[in-house]
Amino acid sequence: MIELSNVKAFYPGGEGLELVNVTVKPGEFVYLIGPSGAGKSSVLKLIYMDIKPQSGFVRVNGFNSLNMKRKQIPLLRRKLGIIFQDFKLLTDRTVFENVAFTLNVTNSRQRDIKRKVLRVLAEVGLRHKENKMPHELSGGEQQRVAIARALVNEPIILLADEITGNLDPLSEEDIISLLEKIHAKGTAILMATHDNRLVRGKNRKIIRIEKGRTIN
Ligand SMILES: Nc1ncnc2c1ncn2[C@@H]1O[C@H](COP(=O)(O)OP(=O)(O)OP(=O)(O)O)[C@@H](O)[C@H]1O
Ligand SMILES: [Mg+2]
Repeated sequence: MIELSNVKAFYPGGEGLELVNVTVKPGEFVYLIGPSGAGKSSVLKLIYMDIKPQSGFVRVNGFNSLNMKRKQIPLLRRKLGIIFQDFKLLTDRTVFENVAFTLNVTNSRQRDIKRKVLRVLAEVGLRHKENKMPHELSGGEQQRVAIARALVNEPIILLADEITGNLDPLSEEDIISLLEKIHAKGTAILMATHDNRLVRGKNRKIIRIEKGRTIN
């Protein structure tokens, strides 16, 4: 489903990925672990095709970086749920509107939009906060809105970039158990983190990355 094969990708300053091999199969929950600057966010950017490899290739759900057209990128991203450390919610929209936003731009019917949004809000435990503004929510709740927004298009995979980085330990636990629940329902997850504690005692597939190289 996702495959990065012998990827090298350099930013203009010369930093970047030296040699990266990553595969995620349908339904897998994979942790991408490495220190700050190792290249975790860059791996995710390669998957959502924000950057292009200089050598090797990236395959995602039938698309290949070797022959990907620029205008196909939105099509690919609609199949990916992307979540960041800083939530990236629209501050002037309600919880409901934040989640509905990506459905509105894909032109769904109002009745379908409402049904889908309320379903994912219930899934993340925020059905009762649909009319709140983001600033009225805790950090953990805001991150759950971001997860609901990522889920609403029924993605093939959730790409999570250090998503518990801004949260206190209790909210962090909440978010991890929410991800485990989502995974149990069949969604694949690739979770980038510097935090080894998150995988301690868990039987998860781990890909380690250091200085731009993956160590499997
Ligand atoms: N837009 C950019 N332009 C130039 N260099 C960049 C850019 N983004 C990242 N880099 C460099 O690429 C390397 C990998 O960065 P990346 O952001 O992927 O690391 P990371 O593992 O996500 O780190 P962190 O845990 O701090 O988020 C670093 O050396 C970084 O300085
Ligand atoms: Mg990063």
